[in-house]
Amino acid sequence: MTDGHPVVARLYDTVMAVPERTMLPEHREALADGLSGRVLEIGAGTGAMFSYYDEGVELHAVEPDPHMRKQASERVTELGASVELSDASGESLPYDDNSFDAVVASLVFCTIPDHEAALSEVARVLKPGGEFRFLEHVRADGALGHAHDLLAPAWHTVAGGCHLNRETGVLFREDDRFELLSYEHRDGVTPMVRGRMRRRGNGGLRGVLGLD
Ligand SMILES: C[S@@+](CC[C@H](N)C(=O)[O-])C[C@H]1O[C@@H](n2cnc3c(N)ncnc32)[C@H](O)[C@@H]1O
Repeated sequence: MTDGHPVVARLYDTVMAVPERTMLPEHREALADGLSGRVLEIGAGTGAMFSYYDEGVELHAVEPDPHMRKQASERVTELGASVELSDASGESLPYDDNSFDAVVASLVFCTIPDHEAALSEVARVLKPGGEFRFLEHVRADGALGHAHDLLAPAWHTVAGGCHLNRETGVLFREDDRFELLSYEHRDGVTPMVRGRMRRRGNGGLRGVLGLD
């Protein structure tokens, strides 16, 4: 599907080692907390989330980069976990409508080329009442935001297609296919947002207009 980013994939776990020990466990625990049934993780990378899900979860994961996916597959083996890992992108999920109890996205909407299409796919595959949980870095406000804008093109090249200055939180919050359950914004050099949204039935404005 894609040649991917072999160098980024090789360095990913090393670069993330400190945050994985310090600031990320709290977020990853919250993303997986209490999930049950059929769960989909999009852009699973090297599988850093896999150890956080409860054993009873029927976990499916998509990852389009073959180098990332290989490492994710190795992690599944190491953990002795059961994960149905597929070569697919967030913009074109190979699953039926209304087929998941929850969808998880961790640090991935920054990288998905057509993030609006991917959010539509999340809405499509989630059962009404199902949860979309996310952790994303977003564009900062003020002068730092302008710095993000300036750095974004170079960052996109060196960071495997990541958009440093995406307003992902705004995209999510304003989508009326979902009811916002929780939303937390953490300031920093790269501000982070974490949240949970519930898939509405077809009663949202988009449903009424036939756009759902
Ligand atoms: C920053 S990594 C995050 C990996 C993992 N979710 C985590 O929390 O560590 C972003 C991931 O998104 C994947 N990705 C890129 N384009 C994608 C797409 N169109 N659909 C789904 N995932 C994509 C990349 O291959 C990469 O593995």
